[in-house]
Amino acid sequence: MSPLTILVVGSGGREHALAWKIAASPLTRRLVMAPGNPGMAKLGEVRPVKATDVPGLVALAREVAADLVVIGPESAVEAGLADALAEAKIPCFGPTAAAGRLESSKAFTKAFADRHGLPTSAYRVCEDVETARAALDAFQPPYVVKADGLAAGKGVVIAETRAEALAAVEDALGGRFGSAGSRVVLEEFLVGEIGSCFALCDGSTSILFGEAQDHKRAFDGEIGPNTGGMGAYSPAPVFTKALLEAVRTQLAEPTFAGVAAEGSPYRGALFVELMATAEGPKLVEFNVRFGDPECQVLMLRLKSDLVPYLLACATGRLAELPAPAWREESAVCVVMAADGYPEAPVAGSIIRGAEQDFGPDVQVFHAGTSRDADGVLRAAGGRVLNVCAVGATLQEALDRAYGAIGRIDWPGGFYRRDIGWRALAR
Ligand code: GLY
Repeated sequence: MSPLTILVVGSGGREHALAWKIAASPLTRRLVMAPGNPGMAKLGEVRPVKATDVPGLVALAREVAADLVVIGPESAVEAGLADALAEAKIPCFGPTAAAGRLESSKAFTKAFADRHGLPTSAYRVCEDVETARAALDAFQPPYVVKADGLAAGKGVVIAETRAEALAAVEDALGGRFGSAGSRVVLEEFLVGEIGSCFALCDGSTSILFGEAQDHKRAFDGEIGPNTGGMGAYSPAPVFTKALLEAVRTQLAEPTFAGVAAEGSPYRGALFVELMATAEGPKLVEFNVRFGDPECQVLMLRLKSDLVPYLLACATGRLAELPAPAWREESAVCVVMAADGYPEAPVAGSIIRGAEQDFGPDVQVFHAGTSRDADGVLRAAGGRVLNVCAVGATLQEALDRAYGAIGRIDWPGGFYRRDIGWRALAR
């Protein structure tokens, strides 16, 4: 295969990790990232084009003669970037906006699950408070209330009481998440262990592509508000061979067959968030891209070159590739977030020591940073840094990640100290 010019779209820790792996590939001749971040800027060229600026990104892909565009965030999927690139005949890793409804509307996904027989929880879709009030009678506490649309991982509330559930419904329908909350989905609470499983599809062929476990709550002990994810680790012991096989046959493959049958064949990564219940895996939700921070630990564990898999998804050639190879070691990611995250992260605090050499087993990905003209690094987002490490055991990987955090001087941030507790408690 001749070397490629690759455009990575996005600016978070997930995209930094993807770009890091792509930059290490002998198949990459030129790496361009839009809009990128200060950490990504060290890997190649960053261009100030937003992930939702579809015409701007198509123009950039044309200008650099991109052989492949890799879509990181769901916002670019929802904006229709893959559709526009298909029209421009530029290979793209990432699904069309129609296939992307699996993430951009939870109500769509639940109906899709019904149509295609995917195991998932009972649910009701509500567009007004009165309907929701009546629908709550069908559920037991704790109540699961979700904004229908994209809310950066913050649109989910697990309410212990009916009053809290109604308040969450009123909050969402009242505009807290803008149009993303114009409908809410009430769901049955699933009992089991949560897991994140990934699959790649090229429109017809699909493969599983790694698994991890994420920590969604803001604070130690799984308390506090839901976030985009405060840390992840892989492998996660919940994923037995039997569970992976069930995810492949009961969730991933029927989903790819279903989206193809409904007219929008899937090209890219599908993130199956599932609950491992006593009856087998049940779909919690889909995301139409890699997870963040799950992607970071997958990239640390992936032994194979990533680029052939991305290109094969874009060009319909996944069946020609061998199964991906993974390092046996554990990988962890500890998210350092700005004070106030997720509600009101404080921007602008100075971060020192994040870019020192931590050794070959530690990688620090930038998730929400900015750099002043004089080189000073500052917090510029909710989740700001992803401190990642590998180790022979999960404990060793955690010791390395937390050891690196101890060398980063950032009084304006916080992190969880219990990443990986479920696996350590087994
Ligand atoms: N870590 C969960 C997500 O990417 O949405």
